[in-house]
Order: sequence, then C-alpha cells, then structure tokens
Amino acid sequence: MLLAMAAVTISALADEGMWIPMLLGRNEADMQKAGMRITAKDIYDINNACLKDAVLLFNQGCTGEYVSGEGLFLTNHHCGYSYITMHSTVEHDYLTRGFWAMSREEELPCPGLTATRLVRMEDVTAQVLAGVTAETSEAERSSIVERNIKAIARRAEEGTHYKAVIKPFYYGNQYFMYINEVFTDVRLVGAPPSNIGKFGGDTDNWMWPRHTGDFSMFRVYAGADNKPANYSAENRPYKPLKHLEISLDGVQEGDFTFVFGYPGTTQRYVTSDAVELAANVENPIRIDLRTIRLKHYKDAMEKSPAQRLKYASKVASVANAWKKWQGETQGLNRMNAVEKKRGYEERYQKWAADKPQYYNVLPQLHEAYGTLRPIEVELIYYSEGVRASDFMQRAQKYSQLADESDALKIIGAVNRLKEDNKKYFADFEQHSAVDRAIFIETFLYLWEAGHAPYLGEKAPTKAAVEQKLGKIYDGSLLNNSKKLASFLDGYTEKSAKKLKKDPALGLFEMAYAQAYDPQKIAKYKSTYQDIQRLMRIYVKGMMEMQPDVNFFPDANLTLRVAYGHIQGFNSFDGARYEAFSDLKGIMDKENPNIYDYVVEDKLKELYALKDYGRYGIVEEINDSTVTETPDGMIIRRTHKVNNHMPVCFIATNHTTGGNSGSPVLNADGRLIGINFDRCWEGTMSDLLFDPDYCRNICLDIRYCLFIIDKYAEAGHLIDEMTLVSSK
Ligand code: ARG
Ligand code: GLU
Repeated sequence: MLLAMAAVTISALADEGMWIPMLLGRNEADMQKAGMRITAKDIYDINNACLKDAVLLFNQGCTGEYVSGEGLFLTNHHCGYSYITMHSTVEHDYLTRGFWAMSREEELPCPGLTATRLVRMEDVTAQVLAGVTAETSEAERSSIVERNIKAIARRAEEGTHYKAVIKPFYYGNQYFMYINEVFTDVRLVGAPPSNIGKFGGDTDNWMWPRHTGDFSMFRVYAGADNKPANYSAENRPYKPLKHLEISLDGVQEGDFTFVFGYPGTTQRYVTSDAVELAANVENPIRIDLRTIRLKHYKDAMEKSPAQRLKYASKVASVANAWKKWQGETQGLNRMNAVEKKRGYEERYQKWAADKPQYYNVLPQLHEAYGTLRPIEVELIYYSEGVRASDFMQRAQKYSQLADESDALKIIGAVNRLKEDNKKYFADFEQHSAVDRAIFIETFLYLWEAGHAPYLGEKAPTKAAVEQKLGKIYDGSLLNNSKKLASFLDGYTEKSAKKLKKDPALGLFEMAYAQAYDPQKIAKYKSTYQDIQRLMRIYVKGMMEMQPDVNFFPDANLTLRVAYGHIQGFNSFDGARYEAFSDLKGIMDKENPNIYDYVVEDKLKELYALKDYGRYGIVEEINDSTVTETPDGMIIRRTHKVNNHMPVCFIATNHTTGGNSGSPVLNADGRLIGINFDRCWEGTMSDLLFDPDYCRNICLDIRYCLFIIDKYAEAGHLIDEMTLVSSK
C-alpha cells in the first residue's frame, strides 16, 4: 500500500501539470472540485467558439490573449520588447516613455511579428507511426516518422490557409497535429514606460514580492474576409471568434485559477542522472562563467549612463537564465530530487524485473548519461566560457573567414566584418577593458578547471597563464583597429595564412577543437538519439506501471492548461510571503538613484490622490472610533476609504518560459491577470514541481487597466473591452 501511494505521489503532485486542451475532459472533475465553474468544453471545443480562440502564440516564444472583438490583445512588456524598441528613436523613445496609439491610424506595424491561433488539434499517432513495427530499427523509424509527418501535414493544409504542425508527445509515444491560423499583420497599440513595464528590472526578476507592470498591447489585422493577410493599409481589425471577459471582482487567497498558454520546455520524466547532471554539474559551471561576465558588465554600467545603456540588454539576457539556474539547483537539491528519482527508479526496476521490454531501459539510460556527460560538459565550457568575450566571438568569425575559399563568400564576409568593426571600435577604449577582463578570467577559469590544457601543460603558474592571455589579447590584429582595417581592405585568399597565425585564432581554434572533436560529437549525437529512444520506452513503462495516473506530457510549445490556486508561500529562509502586492509596495521600493526603482511622477500623483477609478480595492471601513473632545462632545466616525491598488499576485499554476503573456483566468473563465514569471524558489518546476514553493507570478489585470485608463488616459482602449463586475 505504502509503495503504491509513494509511486503515485511522484507523478501526481497537487497543482502539477500542463494539460492538453483537447483531453481536458479527463481533468474536468478535478478542476471543478478545485473550484472551476465552467466546463472543459468552454475551454476547448472544435464546434463552438471557446476560450482557446481567445489565446494566441506570440511569435515563437510568448502567449497573448484577445480582449476585444476588434483584435486587440495583451501580452507581456518583455515579450513586446523588441517591437517597442524597433519603433523607438531618440525623439520618440517609446521604450522609456511608453507608447499609446490614440487612434487606429497611430497603431504601428511590426514586420516579422506573428500571432497564431489554434484552429483545432488531432491525435495523429496511428498515421505518424504507420509502417513502424517492433522490428523497425531506430534510424528507419525516424525516417518513416519524418516522411509520414510531412505527408499528413501536407494533406491537412491542402485547400486551406492553415498551417499544420505535428509534434511528438511523451518522447514519441504519441503525436498530435495542430492546425493553426497564422496572422502576420500585427500592430503595436500600447506599452507602458519602462519604469512601469520593467519596474524592478533584473534586481526583482524571478523574485517575489514583485511590482512589474509587465504588459503591452497589440492588434491583429486581417483581410476583408477576416483571414490572415500580410500588412496592408486596407486590412481591418481581426474579429476573433472569442475574446476574454475581464473580471473586475478581484482575487482572493485560495481562488481557483488557470493559465492557458504556450509553455516551451520541461523535462519532467528524465532520470536521476539527468537531474544530477543539470543541478550539480551543468548549472554550476554556467552560473560561474556568467557570474564573471555579469560582474564586469555591471561594474561598467555603474560608470556612466552611456555604459549603462550599452550593457543593459546584454545583462538582461545573460542574467535571466543565470538567476534561474541558481534557483533551479537550490530547489532541486532542497527537494532531494536526485534521491527521489533514484527511489522511483528502484521501484521501476522491481516492477520491470519480469518485463524484458523494460528491464534494460534504466541501466542503458545510466550508461548513456555516462557517455554524454563529459562531452556535454565540454560543450558548456565552450559555449559559456570560450565564447564569453566578444574577442573570442570575433576570433570565430575571422577563423571562418580564413577557412573560406569561395571568392564571393570572402567578399561578403569581409564586408560584414568591416561593418561589425565600425561598431566595435567606436568605443573600443572603454569596452576593451571590460572584454579583456572577461576574456582573461573566463579562460583562467577553464584552465584551473582542467579544461584548457592548450594553455600550458607543463604546470605553469596562474600568473604565467594570465600573462599569456593578456599577450594574446593585446597582440592580436583583431584588437588593432588601424592595422585590421588595412588588412581587411587588402584581403585576398592569400591573407588567410597570415590571419591563421594571429594568436586569437590560434587560441580559438584549439579551444574549438577541444569541444568539437568530430569523434566526440558523433558520439554525442548518437548517444543523444539513444537517450530519446530509451526515454520513449521508459515513459511508456511508467504509464503501464501506474495506469491510474494521468501523466501530463512535457511542455513543447503547444497550447496547455495549468490550474491551481492563488496562494502565498514560505520562502527558503522561512519568510512568509503574501499572495498579493500593491502600489504602496512600488512607493516603498522607490529610489530615484536606483535605475530599476525609479517611479514615474504621474504614478506618484495618482497614488497620492488614490485615484484608482473602478480598479482599486475599495475597503469600506466602519471605523467605530469614538473620540471625546475636551469639551465633552462625543464624535463617532465611519468612513469609506479607497486605498489599495493591486499590482501582482502569485498562484500555484505550473508554468514555464513561453507562458509569458498567458491569460490567468478565474473559476468563470474570466481574465484576472497576465502571467509573466515564476518565483525563484520554484524554478526547479521544469524538472520537478514542489507545491510548497512553485508559484507563477501574474500581473493583476486591474493594475493593467488602471495604467491604460488612468495613467495613459487611453480610455478608448478600455471601451473596446468587456469588463465584468458582479458587485
Ligand atoms: N524571468 C522572466 C522570463 O523568464 C522575465 C525576463 C525578462 N525580464 C528581465 N528582467 N530580464 O522571461
Ligand atoms: N518570463 C518567462 C517567459 O518569458 C516566464 C517565466 C517562466 O519561466 O515561468 O516565458
């Protein structure tokens, strides 16, 4: 009994799971028990307009949701970021100041941006695996699968304007086809200033309590037939089959919530070896190497506003994963994830003992990870270490040039390098100090870890290696703007020889050879394929071993539903966190000297006036204070105060990267928030979910509306929406 129970808990923890909309019927009873008042069909239905028609894939990495019958949708500020930047100039700095289209004419086209609607999905496992038998070899299997997928997709698209995508689930035990409608005329409608949309910046990233107004607005345009059309002034706002109703009722601790969006990647079913590798080998190396880079970028950013600007977006992207990996490793170790997995694997082995198709799979996976591990580690040292400096990234480009023999390609490459150099040498004086330090420290790290033997096998001292690296940096043609320019001007095939002799290329090529040894890479690829195949068998076995468990498939950038409750949590250090944050918290954090905590004047004014319109939390306080005045008069007070502006909340929904911008819905399927992050303590949820710590972070929709209405005075956008209040 105990054994069976333990087996169940590892795969069906409360609130864990990213469920397939088409199969949500299986979760319906559980969702309703958890508080949901709508049905699975209200969420996904191919015969009627349903909530899924209001959800869209924003490019290939975020989610958005329609909030008006005229194609207006919401997503995160960090998702719309590059499009806001695209339209920003020094005169019209929308990124800093914010942007609000006051009429349809002012909405800004965003070339390259797509908004994809799922029309319907289908289980196509049988068709995809047609022709595969127990005897089919792995290589044959993949070519059959590939061929079938192409044919099925082509047939599905025929005579329609739809695009078909077929993806494997459970490592290829199942296949689903997604029929999509891809809109290509998408325009920027609104974005708050960075001090709101990015409030807290990297300091608060992955953290709770959070106060980021992380939203932006776009509108989809379509042809006269309401179908996707490329940009044209003639296009009209798209009329979605469904747009979300927005709840003004607010949220309470314990409320049922669900997140409907496009989570990118999880690795829920990997073995203990994979978890150990990620948590205790890969993450620590990546973290260390990025710590070196970040330290130098951040030091430079302190020096001047110009340098701050130069490194800001680099830091944002380097720091995002850096911080996540730290939370992930801590979380996994705290959960004893490796031990838990090993325990599960022991049970699996016992169960598989009399099943020849399964009893070998775990030992084989163990062996495969043993083979993979050293190669994987070398690749991480390369990508995070060798390529950390611009110097080595440039060395790679020059090394490719030196290897090029096609005359036309040489001309192209030389021109591109000349273009790059204009930017690179524009502030070389300052930047090279940063880049040189990063270069030297990362290589020293590799050398000390024993992964850069090419820097001196004869046990040289650290100081000697450092000196050698300094000489490479200073002596390279790549760092001499004048000599390099004339070298490129006169570049011919014969110049390759001279280029090859440059110390930068010499070092780069040795480091590259160390990571990309062809034999090792071939081994890596075949081992990786083995692991995929073995995982397919392993997961199939899991499902047979626990037939009563509803296994959710790993995220793969397909539409999913995650559900849970609004809930605070106790942090690692024992601190108790509320589930809500509010505008007062922004004022508490305010610091005009800390870039991430600058507050817009207008927001302060609205706060001072408590001018929150219908979006604030009005608390009626029947204050029964009785005051006696000196002359013996009794004064009784009762007053009504409108004193709260909610900003963010957290819930137990299982989400990951890609869920950014996803609608967070209440028990009635109404919009209450926009998902944008996870709490740091719970970032291990890509591998293992812990209901005590895993929380997704959501922007309270009322703060979003307040910013649009009161801050931006763009009430015309609110007028398009459907706001619902039961009070
Ligand atoms: N952590 C969030 C995510 O993974 C937000 C990232 C953008 N924000 C930032 N400060 N870098 O996408
Ligand atoms: N910020 C993430 C994204 O861009 C979502 C946070 C997460 O990883 O859960 O998708």
